[in-house]
Amino acid sequence: MGTMRTLISNGTVVTASTAVEADVIIDGEHIVGVVEPGTAGDGFDRVIDATGRYVIPGGVDMHTHMELPVSGTTSADTYETGTRAAAIGGTTTIVDYAGQTRGSTLAAGLAEWMGRAEGHSYIDYGFHMMVTDVHEGTLAEFPQMMGVGVTTFKLFTAYPGVNLSDDRQILAAMQVAASIGATIMMHAENGIAIDLLRDEAVARGETDPIHHLLTRPASMEAEAVHRVVALAEIAGCPLVIVHISSQDALAEAVVARDGGLPVFAETCPQYLWLAQEDLPEGFEAAKFVCSPPLRRRSEGHQAALWSGIDTGRVDAVATDHCPFTWEQKEAGRGDFRKIPNGLGVVEHRVDLVYQGVVEGWIPLTRWIDVIAETPAKISGLYPKKGTIAPGSDADIVIYNPTGSHVLSARTHHMNLDYSVFEGAEVGGSAETVLSRGEVIVDRGVFVGEPGRGKYLVRGTNALLPERIVE
Ligand code: URP
Ligand code: ZN
Ligand code: ZN
Repeated sequence: MGTMRTLISNGTVVTASTAVEADVIIDGEHIVGVVEPGTAGDGFDRVIDATGRYVIPGGVDMHTHMELPVSGTTSADTYETGTRAAAIGGTTTIVDYAGQTRGSTLAAGLAEWMGRAEGHSYIDYGFHMMVTDVHEGTLAEFPQMMGVGVTTFKLFTAYPGVNLSDDRQILAAMQVAASIGATIMMHAENGIAIDLLRDEAVARGETDPIHHLLTRPASMEAEAVHRVVALAEIAGCPLVIVHISSQDALAEAVVARDGGLPVFAETCPQYLWLAQEDLPEGFEAAKFVCSPPLRRRSEGHQAALWSGIDTGRVDAVATDHCPFTWEQKEAGRGDFRKIPNGLGVVEHRVDLVYQGVVEGWIPLTRWIDVIAETPAKISGLYPKKGTIAPGSDADIVIYNPTGSHVLSARTHHMNLDYSVFEGAEVGGSAETVLSRGEVIVDRGVFVGEPGRGKYLVRGTNALLPERIVE
């Protein structure tokens, strides 16, 4: 039996470098041609008319937490519900974070996460490894992880007693990473100082969720970025600062990259769109509790992050998707330190960054670069993922630039009984989504088969030669 041949006709194909009228030819799971409109010939099994639509690479969300065990509970989206929501929103690849349990091995952590995802994910997925117990045994496992496609390792300067590594451990891990071509993903906030501020706030009776934001100042994010950049420079190690929330932290990353260091900046839609000013009164603000926290709009953080996307200083927009239901958030009533950290965003990332195009803040090509191409390159998935070109996987979104819709818990597909974006009207929407040539969302209707997503053996960060100076 031959493979299925699909033609996507009459659309505007947008990649990180161009937007052109073109037809896309798919054979089986792969793109085999991007040709002048009307020149593809015939004999196709299926023709998708993309007139008036953008034809874009499927989104690559390089930062998610499905079923993450945290604070005695588990993030609310499973690989099934989370990847279904992602696909509906135009994301066809996630790189989720597997984690080491303190006292155990990286291999055991990876096996645990593989077991959760396998047979459940609707879209292709890879894993970073959260390293929470750095010692010689753990470091000796790094090459083995690389061998199975885990080429990125997350370290934390935050969450003392749970995830935090000290500077000696961080430097040692960076030295090993540098020696094997791995990239370090860094959660940069000064967790030790922040913990004192948190304890002091609670001792003063300041227990509402707003104090989560007030006790994690941007200066403590920027300080941690500065410190880990200095350590990475000594080690010669490539570094991604994940979930950058403030202009202060971005400025530190920009100084590093302008100095020629292989330092990359990731932000998230919540930091681009939401702010401290948006928080509801009282405990309801727990819905918005994440780390790093939302910042004040009046201080210019959102504007600085959008400008960073426009100028190429922000490399990637991922979600840090880590949803907790209202019932789960209730654990922190009376003590904000007990609120599970994280927001549900995976379904809306493509749309929320597209709003920067609608507003005229960023060009179309930057949209695709930060949601697909550069995350694919950093994650070692390019050009299999992240672009529309012959040889690439046929992960494609037919995006309606005028398909406006309202974000709401009543209509979203994430396993979450509220939305931090409730009532937001967005212009544009993913209509039809293909993953490896298969239609999994058909004009807004999800039609994917459970468990069809495959584990991705990732290569190393493709951007390294560009940023390393001898
Ligand atoms: O609040 C957040 N971001 N939770 C997810 C875990 C992390 O630190 O990325
Ligand atoms: Zn983090
Ligand atoms: Zn995260």
